[in-house]
Formats: sequence, C-alpha cells, structure tokens
Amino acid sequence: MNAAREPIMDDGIKTLLRGVSASPDAISNESAWIEVIQRMDEIYADIVRYQVQLEEKNAGLEDAQRFIQSVISSMSDVLVVADTGGSIQQVNRALESLTGRTTAELVGQPLAALFSAEYAPKVEDFAEHIRTAAISDCEVELLDANRRATPIAINCTPRFDHHGRLSGLVITGRPLGELQRAYDDLRDAHHQLKTTQQQLVQSEKMASLGQLVAGVAHELNNPISFVFGNMHALKRYEQRLHSYLTAIHDGLPEDEREQLRKKLKIDRLLADIAPLIDGSLEGADRVGQIVEDLRRFSTPANQQQCQGFDLCRVINTAAEWVIKARRVRPVLDIRIPATLTITGYEGYVHQILVNLLQNAADALEDVSQPLIRIRAGIQHEQAWVTVQDNGPGIPSPQLLRIFDPFFTTKGVGKGTGLGLYISYNLATEQCRGSLKADSDEGGALFTLTLPRELAP
Ligand SMILES: Nc1ncnc2c1ncn2[C@@H]1O[C@H](COP(=O)(O)OP(=O)(O)OP(=O)(O)O)[C@@H](O)[C@H]1O
Ligand SMILES: [Mg+2]
Repeated sequence: MNAAREPIMDDGIKTLLRGVSASPDAISNESAWIEVIQRMDEIYADIVRYQVQLEEKNAGLEDAQRFIQSVISSMSDVLVVADTGGSIQQVNRALESLTGRTTAELVGQPLAALFSAEYAPKVEDFAEHIRTAAISDCEVELLDANRRATPIAINCTPRFDHHGRLSGLVITGRPLGELQRAYDDLRDAHHQLKTTQQQLVQSEKMASLGQLVAGVAHELNNPISFVFGNMHALKRYEQRLHSYLTAIHDGLPEDEREQLRKKLKIDRLLADIAPLIDGSLEGADRVGQIVEDLRRFSTPANQQQCQGFDLCRVINTAAEWVIKARRVRPVLDIRIPATLTITGYEGYVHQILVNLLQNAADALEDVSQPLIRIRAGIQHEQAWVTVQDNGPGIPSPQLLRIFDPFFTTKGVGKGTGLGLYISYNLATEQCRGSLKADSDEGGALFTLTLPRELAP
C-alpha cells in the first residue's frame, strides 16, 4: 500500500458541502458531517500508518526467517526438531541428503523412524529424558538413503515456547564416519611414531653396545681367568690325589704312605679344594650376572619390565663397562650407598647412565687428569644420580640444544647426536623422572632423578 495516498475528501469538497446547506438545521447537519469526515480522515490516516508499520515488520520477519533458513540449510551437522510427542516438525538439508528423504516426507513422522531398529527405543525415550537433562555426545545409528545404519554422535536439547513451556526437542548430530576416519588415521600415525621411536631407542642402544663390547669383555675376563686358574689348580690336585689313592690301594706300608702324604702335600691340598670350588662358583656367578646385565640392556623397549632393582649395582656396572672399554681410562670417583633399591625400568636406567658416562669419557679424551665423579642418593621419595666430569664443559648456547635429536659436536662417525635425546625421553617419559644438564669451567654435570616407586 502507498503511504502517500491522500485522505478520501479534500478541503475543496468540504467547502462545497458547507456552501450547499444554509438553514440552521442544515448548518448543524453540515458541521456534524464535517466532524464525521474529519474523524474518518484521521482514522484512515491511522490505518495507513499502521499498515505501513505492519508491512515493514513483515519484511523484517521475512528477512529474519530467510536468514535462519539459510543458516540451517548450510549447517553440515544434521538437525531435527520434534514436538513433545516425538513427531518430526522440521529437518535441515544435511539430514535430507543423509537420509535421502525430503522435509515434506519426514514432517509428522515419528522421530524413531529415522534411526536403526537397535536405537529406535532409545530415541523414543529422548522426549521424556530431556525433561530432566540434555543429552550430549550420544552415539546412535541413523538410517541413510540406502537404509544402512550410519553411526552418528548426537546432542539433544529441550525446546521451549515463548511462555517458557517445554514444546519439543532439538537434535543436532555429526556422522561418526568422518570423525572415526580422522581418529583412525591419528591412531595409525601415533602407532607408527611409537614404533619408529622404539626402533630408534633400540638401534642407539645397539650402537652403544658396540662401544661397550671391550668393557664387557674386560669385565668377563676377570672371573673367567679366575675360574680357569682354579680349574688348573684342581686338575693338578686331582693328579696328586690319584697317585696317593693308587698307592693306598696297592697296599703301601704305613710309614711309606705317610712319607708320600707329606711329599704330595695331601693335607694342604684337601684344605684348598673347598675355597677353590667356592672361588670358581663365584666367578661363574659373576659371568652369569654380566650376561644377565647384557641381556637386560639389550632387551627391546616393549619387553622392558618395571620391577625392583638395585640402582647402585646398575651404576657400578655401567661405569665398569664404559670405562674399561676406553683406551684412556678416566679415574672413577664413585661415592654412592652400598645398595639403593628402587622400582622402575632397570634396562632404561642402565642405558641412560651408559650414555652419560660415554659422553663424559668422550669429553675427557684430551684432559690431562681425567676424572668422573658419580654420586647417588634418595631425597623426597626421589632417587638421584649425578655424573660430573672435569672436561671442557658445554658452552651456554649448546646447553640449550644438547637434548635435541641429532645435535652433536662430534666428528662424522663418532656421534649421532641421539644419546642425550633418547636418554631424556627415557628419563622423563618411560621412567617419569628428569634429566638436567649444567656446566661451568669445572666441566659438565648431569643430574638424573627417578621416582623411588614407579607404578607400572
Ligand atoms: N659431558 C659432556 N661434556 C661436554 N659436552 C657434552 C657432554 N655430554 C654431552 N655433550 C655435548 O652434547 C652433544 C650431544 O650429546 P649426545 O649424547 O646426544 O650425542 P653424541 O654423544 O654427540 O652422539 P651419540 O649419539 O653417539 O651419543 C655432544 O655432541 C656434546 O657436544
Ligand atoms: Mg652421546
């Protein structure tokens, strides 16, 4: 309607009407008419104004509706609105394309008809359920265009009318296929990363094992030569005993037998046998222990076991292996308790200590009086071990990078730059402790802390 339209009667007509009636009655009639016409004009003007306002509001409402509709149809998540009885009132385009059914086909249908038979009863309960609480991240199965069950994660919230009364429910959901795929990809990538990391730890360990072989061989050499020496002595004793017993069996007279007994030193021989056997057993035991340490050290990461072990024994073994493998052997100043039992991954702790000691020994290659200090103890339920050397130390800019993978200052073929990176990860992630580095003119100091009781 046009707001500028003129009132029904203009001033000219009114003047005309006034001119037509001249009698007093006619004059009063005329003024009544004029009043009526004026009222009509006013009312008409009001109607026109209201109509204009109404049309403006209608246009605003239509805009708002178009806006809401465009938002709903561009939603990639599915949307279903249902009344309190569970009948569908509205759906969006995402749901139409997923189910292959139009809004017209779906409106008025029961909500449960959208879902697979397994989930329909659950969905039927929604209308009742949302009276007490909204439903979030509920996994159900929607029937797609081919009536196949499609997993979907939905949220369901109550809808209220303008009086604040419950008038239905609103369901929004996202097909899980996409999420599941993304999740599966992520899990595969994580698995691959873990495997690669384990391989890295293992190959680094094997590389340092190569450097340790000389030290281990040296360690084995002691008890084995001990056992050898004892065996040779026992063999000689066996020959003397054999001669003595043969003489007795041949009926040698008693005084000659006594002379032979003294000559073959049978009494000393008999007293020696037990310590020789004990010593040999001890040597064999030590060999067994070294083999066991080697086995533990080379055990792949996924077979490492969290159990009680003596930290001090691990420190001593690592130090022996590393230092004895060296051409130039630094002096070891080890001041640690006799034993220190903690629960954790012995193999990992061994690997960390070997790395720290190898680095210290490397740093001491050109130092005139090379010294490595090792200390250990317990504080606040944490075991700590420090490895300090009197080498050149680590310059401050490098101190920030030494735990980075592949950071090395050693020549090609001498260092891969993985030792501290792997040690740091083993210390913090697997052993749930810490590894810190400090340095000054006096050399480098590494501090390893480990929980006293690591829960597997
Ligand atoms: N005790 C130390 N004194 C001086 N520098 C050190 C010491 N320990 C580590 N570094 C520095 O940190 C770097 C990284 O050490 P890391 O153990 O990670 O690798 P690497 O010893 O070079 O090689 P590898 O992989 O064979 O261990 C070393 O190259 C060295 O520069
Ligand atoms: Mg190293």
